[in-house]
Amino acid sequence: MCGIVGYVGEKSALDVVIEGLRRLEYRGYDSAGVAVLADGALVSDKKAGKLANLEKSLNENPLTVGTTGIGHTRWATHGAPTDANAHPHLDNAAKVAVVHNGIIENFAALRAELTERGHTLLSETDTEVVGHLLAEHYEPAGGDLAEAMRRVCRLLEGAFTLVAVHADAPDVVVAARRNSPLVVGRGEGENFLASDVAAFIAHTREAIELGQDQVVELRRDGVTITDFLGNPGTFREYHVDWDASAAEKDGYDYFMLKEIAEQPKAVADTLLGRIGTDGRLHLDEVRIPDQVLREVDKVVIIACGTSFHAAMIAKYAIEHWTRVPCEVELASEFRYRDPILDKQSLVVTISQSGETMDTLMAQRHAREQGAKVLAICNTNGSTMPREADAVLYTHAGPEVAVASTKAFLTQLVACYLVALYLGQVRGTKWGDEITEVIEQLAAMPEQVEKVLDTMEPVRELAHSLKDANSVLFLGRHVGFPVALEGALKLKELAYMHAEGFAAGELKHGPIALIEEGLPVVVVVPSPRGRSVLHDKIVSNIQEVRARGARTIVIAEEGDTAVEPYADHLIRIPATPVLLQPLVATVPLQVFACELATAKGHEVDQPRNLAKSVTVE
Ligand code: F6R
Repeated sequence: MCGIVGYVGEKSALDVVIEGLRRLEYRGYDSAGVAVLADGALVSDKKAGKLANLEKSLNENPLTVGTTGIGHTRWATHGAPTDANAHPHLDNAAKVAVVHNGIIENFAALRAELTERGHTLLSETDTEVVGHLLAEHYEPAGGDLAEAMRRVCRLLEGAFTLVAVHADAPDVVVAARRNSPLVVGRGEGENFLASDVAAFIAHTREAIELGQDQVVELRRDGVTITDFLGNPGTFREYHVDWDASAAEKDGYDYFMLKEIAEQPKAVADTLLGRIGTDGRLHLDEVRIPDQVLREVDKVVIIACGTSFHAAMIAKYAIEHWTRVPCEVELASEFRYRDPILDKQSLVVTISQSGETMDTLMAQRHAREQGAKVLAICNTNGSTMPREADAVLYTHAGPEVAVASTKAFLTQLVACYLVALYLGQVRGTKWGDEITEVIEQLAAMPEQVEKVLDTMEPVRELAHSLKDANSVLFLGRHVGFPVALEGALKLKELAYMHAEGFAAGELKHGPIALIEEGLPVVVVVPSPRGRSVLHDKIVSNIQEVRARGARTIVIAEEGDTAVEPYADHLIRIPATPVLLQPLVATVPLQVFACELATAKGHEVDQPRNLAKSVTVE
């Protein structure tokens, strides 16, 4: 949600910043802008719409070249996505330029005060007040931009990452963060700031994770980090374990296609080193002592969107393998209903980005209630894992497409690991099954690969449905969250009406939606294991087909019972019942991606969305 870049060094700042923005555009693409310090003056440009609009404008009216600059790609919160509301925002003397991610909650009061003091504010954004405040505080702070930033931050309420430059402070970029992501990249004779390491990964893999409420001053030869009062700040330096090629399209038309194809590797990487040669799980990074895990009397899983669907699947696994009650809740609802938690509760948060504000706030609330928090996260050093009691990283690598695919599959793996580990530590009557499933989990990368190898008919089917108005998705047991995920992917990518239902709920209302030709995707549970469920869903397929639905059935190889009722049959490999989502989700991802492409949509950047939602 909003991408921010800052650079100071010897290269053309504009080139570095634009390249960084290109890599961060997934975070928001309502508008983009840059500001560069050149010859003691500030030059800037900003345009509504995608980064390409800004690039076109810069080609037509090039900026003076400078070696210090900042840039922004916006997901609009306050004010429509217009040129005027695009960042950077400047003060009236055009001395200060500032870009911002987050929301400044007390901006209305600050704006009124600034107007009273004679400032003219030109946009509808909350950000603009910061430019004016920095201009006011610069001289009283002795011409020290970092000190001016600290003074301004003390006036602000809300969540923010701010990055600023001042025309009178050459070779300096200053930034601040509170509850919003910001990382420093350390180079040789150059330094970087960004919302995400992807922005500078082509230049350096040495990064600094900033703490909460810190201000950083970036110069060519150094980085100074303090708290908002000017005391030296504590921070963590780390080496990024992937390189620029991981964030390239690599010959694919879209990042989403690449990320779907990367899933076998992502699943394998997430399992790597976690299954011992003794066939037992070794989750050393889960720093919660076994004794505490044995005393847990309730698990609560909190997440949003696709990560929430992983959470729903985790509930089935945790309750089955551990017999510990498990609740699953949307993060945006969690803390507002006064949830009952104590020190025997284990709260698991699931987040690809580790920055989703709803989940972060829910996690904080859980810790305040005394619960132990385990974060499942894909982004090293992001806020959620930093604040949690323990973290289990998924190793999906950078996920650039806004619609989550490989992160989801690795979240599932992490959830299975947590469930099996809890079962292993606590000892349950399912000991033998747990041992067997750990083995089967290790084989899942190949199973996912097999699904990917058979996707051509799914692509053709998607193209044939490009004029459909609506698609329904049905599932039972772990197939229900898979159905919800299939519907979510279609909504966000193809902008179509799509809904997922628990197939058993159909006759309680949704069946009224079925009409001649309506595509209905059904995720069929394995006929082995819980065969009752299988039989019931076969009946559900017949019910919708009898009412004219065009049935698209996702069923295990060898499941012949579905054949008479499937207008289209998509085969997936046989897996243990609880692991089926790892293979059943893949055709739905491909389906949504292809259908969106057939409709001419830009699949990596669906309208109105952003990858990392850092506002509540
Ligand atoms: C959908 C999607 C979103 C995210 C949700 C949570 O494809 O990507 O629904 O899953 O915004 O994001 P994270 O996992 O970063 O907390």
